[in-house]
Amino acid sequence: MSKPLSLKTTNAEDICNDSENLAFSQVLDCHLSRRKLLQSGAVLGSVAMMPSLSFAKTAPTFERATSLGFTSVPFSTEDKVIVPKGYTARAFYKWGDPVGIVGNMPKFKFDASNSAEEQAAQAGMHHDGMAFFPLPYGSNTATHGLLAMNHEYVDNGLLFKDGIENWDLTKVRKSQNAMGISVVEVKRENNEWSVVMPSSFARRITPHTPMLVTGPAAGNDLMKTAADPKGIVVLGTMQNCANGKTPWGTYLTCEENWSDIFVNPSNNLTALEKRYGIKSKEKSYLWSKEDERFNTEINPNEPNRFGWVVEIDPFNPTSTPRKHTMLGRIKHEGAEMVITPNGQVAVYMGDDQRFEYIYKFVSKNRYKEGDRVANMRLLEEGTLYVAKFNEDGSGEWLPLVFGQNGLTPENGFADQGEVLVKTRMAGDVLGATKMDRPEWISADPFESGSLYCTLTNNSERGKEGKPGTDAANPRNNNRFGHIIRWKEKNGDGTELSFKWNIFVLAGNPDSPKEEHRGNIMGDIFGSPDGLAFDYRGVLWIQTDVSSSRLNEKEYAGMGNNQMVATIPGTGEYRRFLTAPNGSEVTGIAFTPDNKTLFINIQHPGEPKDGDSDPLNPTAVSSWPDGHSRPRAATVVITKDDGGVIGS
Ligand code: FEO
Ligand code: CA
Ligand code: CA
Repeated sequence: MSKPLSLKTTNAEDICNDSENLAFSQVLDCHLSRRKLLQSGAVLGSVAMMPSLSFAKTAPTFERATSLGFTSVPFSTEDKVIVPKGYTARAFYKWGDPVGIVGNMPKFKFDASNSAEEQAAQAGMHHDGMAFFPLPYGSNTATHGLLAMNHEYVDNGLLFKDGIENWDLTKVRKSQNAMGISVVEVKRENNEWSVVMPSSFARRITPHTPMLVTGPAAGNDLMKTAADPKGIVVLGTMQNCANGKTPWGTYLTCEENWSDIFVNPSNNLTALEKRYGIKSKEKSYLWSKEDERFNTEINPNEPNRFGWVVEIDPFNPTSTPRKHTMLGRIKHEGAEMVITPNGQVAVYMGDDQRFEYIYKFVSKNRYKEGDRVANMRLLEEGTLYVAKFNEDGSGEWLPLVFGQNGLTPENGFADQGEVLVKTRMAGDVLGATKMDRPEWISADPFESGSLYCTLTNNSERGKEGKPGTDAANPRNNNRFGHIIRWKEKNGDGTELSFKWNIFVLAGNPDSPKEEHRGNIMGDIFGSPDGLAFDYRGVLWIQTDVSSSRLNEKEYAGMGNNQMVATIPGTGEYRRFLTAPNGSEVTGIAFTPDNKTLFINIQHPGEPKDGDSDPLNPTAVSSWPDGHSRPRAATVVITKDDGGVIGS
C-alpha cells in the first residue's frame, strides 16, 4: 500500500516522478508509451493514490441564500458581455490561446493560419461545460486551481482562412484538434485571474487521445473495430457538451452530438444508426471525406465507441481517460453526481434530442472518503435506469438490465453490453417518457434527492406523427422550454420512485399565443440549457436560443442569450448576464468561496444559417477582441467589492 501524496503537491511532474507513492496503474499511465499501452490492452485507469477531500457541492460554510442581491441587467442586443453594476466580467482563455504545455505554447494567429499541430496545444473552439478543481489537490483554495472544459464543436468557416475550400486531411486534423477538452491551470494574483503558463498540468485531449473503455460494453462485439480488435481502447472523445465533477476530483465530460460526425454514404442505415440519427451526408465537419474512421460503411462499429461519459483525472496530465459504458450510450448532455445517504453514487443524465429520455446511474459500491483508487472504479459497476414521469405527479426509475422487462435476445439485446450500446432502444422497450430535449441537471445542495432539469424546447411536439403533450411536457410546439424538478423518495438517490412537478414554464407570460406563454415572474427567458446550483443554493440558468431564432419576433423582449438566477421557493427570476451577438452562454464553475464565477461564451458571431463565412467572419460579432475573428472564450466574473457572487 503506497502512502498518499502530500497535500501540498501542486506539480503534476512531481506526481509522476514520485513512483514510490504511485499506484501501479498510475505508473502505467505515467511511464508506459502509448504504443505499449495499446499493445498490452491494459484496462487499468488512472487511479492515483491521493488524499481525497470531498469535491461535493455541499458547502457547510454557507447558509442557503434567501434573496438575490444584484440589480438585474436589461435584455441586450449589444455585442458584449454585460453583468450587473458592481461586477466585472473579463474574457480569457479564448479559442487559440496556448493551453500552457511546457515548451509548446504557440500563439493564436488572427488570420487562422495556425497549423493542426499548433491547434493541439491551444484552446479548442466553442467552449462548453467546465469545472474548477482547487490546487493543491483536496484543498478549498479559491485563488488557484485547474479548469477542465469542453470544446463542443468546430466551425470550419472560422477555423480556416478559406473555410472548407481546398479540403484535405491536414484541415481535418486541425478541425479535430480544435475539439475535445482543455485542462488549464488558473491563478488569481493582484485581483486578476490568468492562465498559468507554462504549467505541468496543462493538457489538451482531442479526438485522437487514447481512452480505455470500462463496464459491460468493454470488449463487446459491437465495440470492436479493425484498429481495436479487442474493443477496449478508443481514440478520442468529441462533441463534448456539458459535464460533471466527482467528489474524488475527476472531471466527467459528456459526448453529445457525436452522430453528426459520422456518415453512411450509401444510406444503408442500420436500425441502430437510424435510432441515433446518423445520416448519409453532412456538411459541417467533413471529417469523413478524408478520415475513413468516420465512414460507417468502412467502420460500422466506430460510432458505437462514442456517446459515452468519459472520466478524466485533471491532476495527472498523463492519465488515460476512461469511457464508462455503465452510464449508457446516448447524446449525453451532462452528468450530475450526488452521494446518496448510504454512500452509493447516483449520476443523473439527460439525452438531448427531441423526445428522448432522462437517465440515472446508481453505483454498486460505496464512496469511500480518502480512497481515490476505489472511488475511481465506482462508475464501472451499478445499474442504469430510465425515467418514467406519470400523469399524477409520481415517477419511476426503470432498470435497463439485460434479461428483464423485455431486454432480451428476442428483442435484439444479446447481453448487458448490447443493452448499453443500444441504450435508447432499451429505453423505448421500457416505455420511458419522451421529454422536450433534456439538457443540464442540477442537484439542490440544501435538499437531498432534489433534482432540476432544463428541457430546452421541442417545436415538434404535437406535430403530425409526433407525440402530443403529457403532464411532464405540457406544451405542444414548445418553443421556449421548461424546467422540471423531482424529489427522490426519502430524498435518496438509490430509491426507484419520485415525485415531480414543473418548476417553471419559460416564455413571455404576456405572449398572445397560449402555447408560448410562460409563468416566469421577473426577467423573461427561453430555451434554458445550462443549469447549476452554486454553493449558496442559488440556481443559475443559461439560455441557448438557436441563432436562427435569436431576436426573432417570437423571442422579442429577451434579446441575446443570457444567464438568470433564481432561488427555489421565491419564484423570482433575475437577469445577471447578457451575451455577445450570435453566442450562447454555457459552463458554470464557482470557486469554493463562491466569489469567482467562470462561464463560457460559445460560438460568438454564429450567423442565423449556421457556419460562419470565412470571407466575412466578423459579420455578426467581433467579440471578444474587437477585430478579426470572434472567438469562444471563458469569462471570469468577480464582484468589485470582493464579495460573494449573487449576494
Ligand atoms: Fe450541447 Fe444540448 O447542448
Ligand atoms: Ca448544452
Ligand atoms: Ca447548447
